[in-house]
Amino acid sequence: MKDNIGLITQSDKEFYKENGYWVSPVLFDEQEIEELRRAHERIWAYDYDGDGYPLDEWRPTNNPKMLRKIDNSWWINDAVRKTVTNPVLGRLGAGLMDSGGARLWYDQVIYKPGTGTGEKDALSPGNVGWHQDYIYWQCTDTSNLVTAWIALQDTDLTNGCMSVVPGSHKWGLLEGSDAFFNRDLEAVKSRIAEESGRAWKEVPVTLKAGQASFHHALTIHGSGQNHAERPRLSVVAHLMPDGMAYKKHGRHNVDNIRLLGPRPREGQPYDNHYFPLLYSDKQ
Ligand SMILES: [Fe+2]
Repeated sequence: MKDNIGLITQSDKEFYKENGYWVSPVLFDEQEIEELRRAHERIWAYDYDGDGYPLDEWRPTNNPKMLRKIDNSWWINDAVRKTVTNPVLGRLGAGLMDSGGARLWYDQVIYKPGTGTGEKDALSPGNVGWHQDYIYWQCTDTSNLVTAWIALQDTDLTNGCMSVVPGSHKWGLLEGSDAFFNRDLEAVKSRIAEESGRAWKEVPVTLKAGQASFHHALTIHGSGQNHAERPRLSVVAHLMPDGMAYKKHGRHNVDNIRLLGPRPREGQPYDNHYFPLLYSDKQ
């Protein structure tokens, strides 16, 4: 990662506080991007570093045009590990969260296949439905988490970039936002807009290769069809403020491994080695 990345400035913080997202300068150089693209190839070919498994895998085998997603590739790929545990990423995340430290909550490696320039498909199987990340993370005692979405190629609407609804992190948690796997973006949009009672405005987050966008866990976001031939590749680091703790709730995202060990209790911090500390202002 480039070593001349500055700190989050006061105006960055204010933009993030107002809009619920922020776009970084280019963080990763060409060689690092190539390493991460190679990591994608290896992961999708089950060529893992070490003998373990990732936390969860979404690998549809019946449709090559469908989105693919792996949770916690840092367990099985060294290049992903180096990236999503990088202290610079942690420092940027901590700055946006206004926290003294940042830990990795988990990572995602996401592959959105290209459909080519043919027909527009409103229900493209590569779509990611509008959602708020926190709808899946209610086992945490704060919604003040931030997601860093790292582009491994120039990314815009032609290849299915993420779009965000600016300011929606102030709308509270919306039941209708449980829609990551709902490819009908228009239907989900109507549902969420109605539930929120707010005017809907979406902004495409265009990125150069090696740039990252950061969004709040309550910011509504989603992405549509990749009209390019090549897949849209990304590596995503979900970051949490150091000190975040377990909150008892009826549902967890990919349960069980979040809090390994017997009888996790409410208030127990996520501070073991499954949630590495990327950055702390105490160090
Ligand atoms: Fe998300």
